[in-house]
Amino acid sequence: MVISLNSCLSFICLLLCHWIGTSSPLNLEDPNVCSHWESYSVTVQESYPHPFDQIYYTSCTDILNWFKCTRHRISYRTAYRHGEKTMYRRKSQCCPGFYESGEMCVPHCADKCVHGRCIAPNTCQCEPGWGGTNCSSACDGDHWGPHCTSRCQCKNGALCNPITGACHCAAGFRGWRCEDRCKQGTYGNDCHQRCQCQNGATCDHITGECRCPPGYTGAFCEDLCPPGKHGPQCEQRCPCQNGGVCHHVTGECSCPAGWMV
Ligand SMILES: *[C@@H]1O[C@H](CO)[C@@H](O)[C@H](O)[C@H]1NC(C)=O
Repeated sequence: MVISLNSCLSFICLLLCHWIGTSSPLNLEDPNVCSHWESYSVTVQESYPHPFDQIYYTSCTDILNWFKCTRHRISYRTAYRHGEKTMYRRKSQCCPGFYESGEMCVPHCADKCVHGRCIAPNTCQCEPGWGGTNCSSACDGDHWGPHCTSRCQCKNGALCNPITGACHCAAGFRGWRCEDRCKQGTYGNDCHQRCQCQNGATCDHITGECRCPPGYTGAFCEDLCPPGKHGPQCEQRCPCQNGGVCHHVTGECSCPAGWMV
């Protein structure tokens, strides 16, 4: 088969035009780009030997025709006809579940990823602090991190940061996991308050309230038990008689001059 110059040119144009028309910007190295070979046909002109009846003369014994005889033979000349040629081209498009966005094939999530991003077809990757298939639900108090998969480790009623998991200690507690009470002498939020208790009283790690040792009273345990009382919470009555003075802690009587226990 011979393709004429003309058809050859038009054929080149077909190829070129086609290539320009569909030159895909998609990168075939991209794993999310799928390609396949597609067949298509182009019209070409082709030459072929066209048979025709050729008449020629030979000398012969035919007297009536002046010894000239007419003969026929099949001869061929070059003719042209339209032919179809099947061509193949590589067709690339985004794989199922992906769509084209700026020369890239990006995954499609039917449900929009509210606080996250679509990392695979219908798969959201949530930001820390968010969970659920579309990342629309905030982590509950007991969980944190991406998809709320990490368990809160905070103790003593501490709240957990939903993003970092860091513990926000309740008043009176400290430590990475709020596992420790405030150090002696401090109390309250972040153990920032200083205890005001005196005379060896212990201070409540949460409220700062003073628990007085035996023999002392007052908001800060700054006072001795009132006369006639002694002991824990100054609840004990003094047994001393005849004007004896009672020790505020032990209740021991110290007798005035002239008297003995
Ligand atoms: C996210 O999912 C929840 C429940 O699964 C649904 O109620 C909500 O409409 C969804 N939001 C979006 C933006 O798709």
